[in-house]
Amino acid sequence: MTTGLLFVCLGNICRSPLAEGVFLHQATARGLLDRFDVDSCGVGHWHVGEPPDGRAVATAGRNGVHLPSIARQVDPATDFDRFDLLLAMDASNRHALVRLGAPEDRVRLMRSYDPTLAGAEVHDLDVPDPYYGGPEGFDRVFAMLERACGGLLDELGRG
Ligand code: 4NP
Repeated sequence: MTTGLLFVCLGNICRSPLAEGVFLHQATARGLLDRFDVDSCGVGHWHVGEPPDGRAVATAGRNGVHLPSIARQVDPATDFDRFDLLLAMDASNRHALVRLGAPEDRVRLMRSYDPTLAGAEVHDLDVPDPYYGGPEGFDRVFAMLERACGGLLDELGRG
């Protein structure tokens, strides 16, 4: 049995492809890749069929991470059955998934798995959308996702 993980953002060209790529990279390094069914998607449709944003590809590449994603929109008819965890990049993505009928107990905020935030007074667990900013925003997002993916693997790898 594999655990299904769906990383979800708005456009599926910046944050969720990075989360997917970082998770695959870390799971491979830990020898755990065959335990997971991993994909990413967007709640929006604007970029369907596109590869990730070039700035996301560049940030990932500098860190030795490949991004296999081709953008697609979430499919409530199949995704909510196929995936055990729907990992939303921000609160807005999370609400969109719940509105579309995703079971609330399977929708989590990605940064809730960051062990460095555990117990901290954090009111905002959003991965900020880097789309309209500069390249440094992608480096910040990448570092956040490295910590969150590490925590997610710590938790799921125990099982
Ligand atoms: P993402 O970033 O949700 O991290 O993929 C975005 C990409 C595109 C748009 C918004 C956010 N857009 O409005 O086109």
